[in-house]
Amino acid sequence: MTDKTQSIHGQWSSRFAFILAATGSAVGLGNIWKFPYITGENGGGAFVMVYLLCVAALGIPIMIAEIMLGRRGRQSPINTMQSLSKEAGADPRWHYLGWCGMIAGFLILAYYSVIAGWSMAYIVKDFFGGFINSNADEIQRLFENLMASPLQQIFWHTVFMIITMQLVMRGVQNGLEKAVRFLMPALFVILILLVAYAMSSGAYDQGMTFLFNPDFSKIDADAVLTAMGHAFFTLSLGMGAIMVYGSYLPSHVSIAKTTFFIAGADTIVALLAGIAIFPLVFANNLEAAAGPGLIFQTLPLAFGHMTGGWLFGLLFFILLFFAALSSSISLIEPAVAWLVENKNIERHQACVWAGSACWALGIGVVFSFNIWSDLKFFDKNLFELLDYLTANLMLPLGGMAIAIFAGWMMKQSHAEQELEIPAKGFQAWQFLIKYVSPAAVFLVSLHVVGVL
Ligand code: TRP
Repeated sequence: MTDKTQSIHGQWSSRFAFILAATGSAVGLGNIWKFPYITGENGGGAFVMVYLLCVAALGIPIMIAEIMLGRRGRQSPINTMQSLSKEAGADPRWHYLGWCGMIAGFLILAYYSVIAGWSMAYIVKDFFGGFINSNADEIQRLFENLMASPLQQIFWHTVFMIITMQLVMRGVQNGLEKAVRFLMPALFVILILLVAYAMSSGAYDQGMTFLFNPDFSKIDADAVLTAMGHAFFTLSLGMGAIMVYGSYLPSHVSIAKTTFFIAGADTIVALLAGIAIFPLVFANNLEAAAGPGLIFQTLPLAFGHMTGGWLFGLLFFILLFFAALSSSISLIEPAVAWLVENKNIERHQACVWAGSACWALGIGVVFSFNIWSDLKFFDKNLFELLDYLTANLMLPLGGMAIAIFAGWMMKQSHAEQELEIPAKGFQAWQFLIKYVSPAAVFLVSLHVVGVL
């Protein structure tokens, strides 16, 4: 059914187009919304160090492996794993990995879309001058009002899902390739401006100390798991998103170099977001551990008081929305590609099915912030449960499976042929995915379960 050199869904127009799409997938709410709030909840510096270590030692090698498997398989993750396990003479059940990934993508998008909806709501709030000269209490009330309103949140969640589906329908190359080309650099510039503002806010040193001065007594096994899970989340690893993007990658492109670029850009954006936010938190006596509302309760304060803040605020939330959009399409692409390949339906139909299912689950997530906030499973509301299940469990385990497959199952000559890197680099990569990644995920899991 497949031509070895190209996917039936098409191909990126160039290496640059792939870099843009994959960076667009990696850079998203994870960097700007999630990284700061989980860093705040987990005490700062030590957590950031563990996260950076996980990006370097697990994230980069596994990203190389995931792109490589995708490009060799040239199909949706489920079918890719099926044909690659056949090629490698491995157990055909490896294709369940593709299934788990597809489900993880669903579960993530259900809450991702709700949070992206918050950023859309904030575009409008800024536009009508909602932040101008507001104090911390007023800004906090603004956020609490949004949380208390299922209707507002459902409205924006619905709009976001519709836009996502529209984009996925058109195929990833059209539209998004072009949009991301200029939006990513723009986001970067706005972040630098916010960092400059944070430097003048009075508590810059305190913010930097919080972020970069590790105090290991502040973290426990669960914090390490969260940091590790976030390394997978922020790089879009462990569920087939990068694999499906890799399946549209032209054959001659260097996977390793591309990976370094994506991981580097992603990490810089996250750190800049942290540097912009924490000085504001301390300067205004806010709570670093405020949770998912952190950026919505801090940044509007800056926008409400800085010169040109109305415009910067507007641009910031618009860019955040676009960053979320370029990530959300990669969460649903594996499911859409699989529906088209296996269910013999058109791309637009596949989008409607997959999107509707995510939308429905997202309604439950909206309720978990208001009318269902007391409904707990394992002491977590639905949003927290979905986040924990996907980011902390499914992605690291999926990443571990990808590492094991690429390191132990696949023929070494095939990996060498795909990667085309010097022998030393190849050996280092192999060591990391064969031993380091599986062992790290396994040990952290045991710790959390309480065995160690
Ligand atoms: N990486 C994105 C972010 O940081 C989210 C994301 C997109 C993702 N695709 C993914 C996370 C696949 C895990 C898996 O916002």
